[in-house]
Amino acid sequence: MRKAERSWPLCGRIKQQKRLEMAGLWKPLGMPGGKIWILLGFILMVLVFTGCGKGPVKEPETRIGTVPDKNLIVVGVSQIGSESVWRTANTASIQSVFTQENGYFLIFKNARQKQENQIKALRSFISQRVDYIVFSPITERGWDTVLQEAKEAGIPVILIDRKVKVRDSSLYTAWIGPDFFNEGRMAGEALEECLKKQGRQDENIHIVVLKGTEGSTSAIGRTTGFSEIAQTHENWNILEQVDAEFTTAKGQEEMERLLRKYETIDVLISQNDDMTFGALEAIHEAGKTAGEDGDIIVISFDAVKNALKLVEEGSITADVECNANQGEYIEEVIRKLENHKVVPKLNFVPEEVFTKENVRERLEEDEQ
Ligand code: AHR
Repeated sequence: MRKAERSWPLCGRIKQQKRLEMAGLWKPLGMPGGKIWILLGFILMVLVFTGCGKGPVKEPETRIGTVPDKNLIVVGVSQIGSESVWRTANTASIQSVFTQENGYFLIFKNARQKQENQIKALRSFISQRVDYIVFSPITERGWDTVLQEAKEAGIPVILIDRKVKVRDSSLYTAWIGPDFFNEGRMAGEALEECLKKQGRQDENIHIVVLKGTEGSTSAIGRTTGFSEIAQTHENWNILEQVDAEFTTAKGQEEMERLLRKYETIDVLISQNDDMTFGALEAIHEAGKTAGEDGDIIVISFDAVKNALKLVEEGSITADVECNANQGEYIEEVIRKLENHKVVPKLNFVPEEVFTKENVRERLEEDEQ
């Protein structure tokens, strides 16, 4: 029903061009004089594809335009950015599912780590009257107004990965993502295991924590989950918990600072693999070793392939998985909604913890 009502701005623009053409105010491509537009378009394409803008190479953003088939379900996705290897895998999972072959028309927007860009993207999806809005909110707060606008437009909103804190939970239809709180607890339990194995369970243990983006569900959940376990051990001393924004560069910078500041660090809890890669660099540069048999026990989150290799090799003691393959779960929810079925409000994706004991199997699965 919504599809028939949908009005596409580009269609409007084409009608407008026809009117101007009839009035002799605009010439379409292919007509004499239109050649100048072809030339300008060609120059623009060369500039874009040769990266003459000097900035980072841009990811293909969107496929905005006229929908080729009105039976396609139009899904607007606002992704946080490309801050981590995990995020790239999450994006790939979404893009591989919402294809035209599967019956979807995907409009994808990368917010480049800015909430204001996400709000803009959501508003553009609303004005284009997409069938569904899917988005991963960078932080939990500040969404009431734009989600109210989506509700008034009758567009179901599906949250993925992170959650929102809103006054009215009917502002979104469903959430699909990881149990971050449990991930934090699993990291704490992995540390308990490791210290027990080493016979250090009663020793004074000095811990530093590299946290992800301030205010994000993943950082909040992992911090509170780990703290809950830490509180049950009087000998676990959390020296500092610092925001390293889920990036390798910040992870390295903060770990360098922590290593200069504290003489003894026994454990690093790093809330994602990208920060861990940076922190490992800092540990090596400081002349220290990482791992169960080294100076600093490292526990990480995400379980991306290159980190799992480090689990096998021993410098990461445990890696708590954050399941990036959410595309198929999102699609399942949309399919149910299309068939007028009730969907659960909260949908957790499965995840596990990898240590030297079980990591080979996952690496082999990934290689297939
Ligand atoms: O919200 C999920 C987290 O965001 C992942 O752990 C991290 O790598 C990403 O950037």
